[in-house]
Amino acid sequence: MQKIKIGFVTVSDRASRGEYEDLGGPAMREWMTEALTSEWEPVVRLIEDEQPIIESTLKALVDDEGCCLVVTTGGTGPAKRDVTPEATEAVCDKILDGFAEQMRAVSLQYVPTAILSRQIAGTRGSCLIINLPGKPSAISECLEAVFPAVPYCIDLID
Ligand code: MTE
Repeated sequence: MQKIKIGFVTVSDRASRGEYEDLGGPAMREWMTEALTSEWEPVVRLIEDEQPIIESTLKALVDDEGCCLVVTTGGTGPAKRDVTPEATEAVCDKILDGFAEQMRAVSLQYVPTAILSRQIAGTRGSCLIINLPGKPSAISECLEAVFPAVPYCIDLID
């Protein structure tokens, strides 16, 4: 049986320029390693906060690599360079508002600044794409909040 592929996209100007270590990418992969028992293969990308680049990266991970799940970290806030949600919306067929609502609601139990994240989730073809904030701690807080619905969602869109 072919291994499923999961895409991990770190969106960060500074990390992509090498000015700052990418902590988010490894944190997402570590979380997934703990959560999943079946075999899977990571497809990793580290890119700048540029909407066309984020869009083309997401499209390639879904359409060319065949990922069934893509998680992004970073670029979800209100800063001028934060455009991950816009790029995600542009490439998705359907937006799953419940994921974002749940992630923000749970995150607010940890930090009041959780309302600043404009993170979204949606489907492109047979792939679920989920935005996570850039802080490594936010990755586990958000994934734990929504992951129970992820395998069923992927089954439904397959
Ligand atoms: N959500 C959780 N669970 N934990 C956090 O620390 N940080 C918030 C918010 N959501 C945070 C969180 C902050 S401070 C910001 S600015 C926004 O996510 C956007 O972060 P991003 O631009 O790095 O994606």
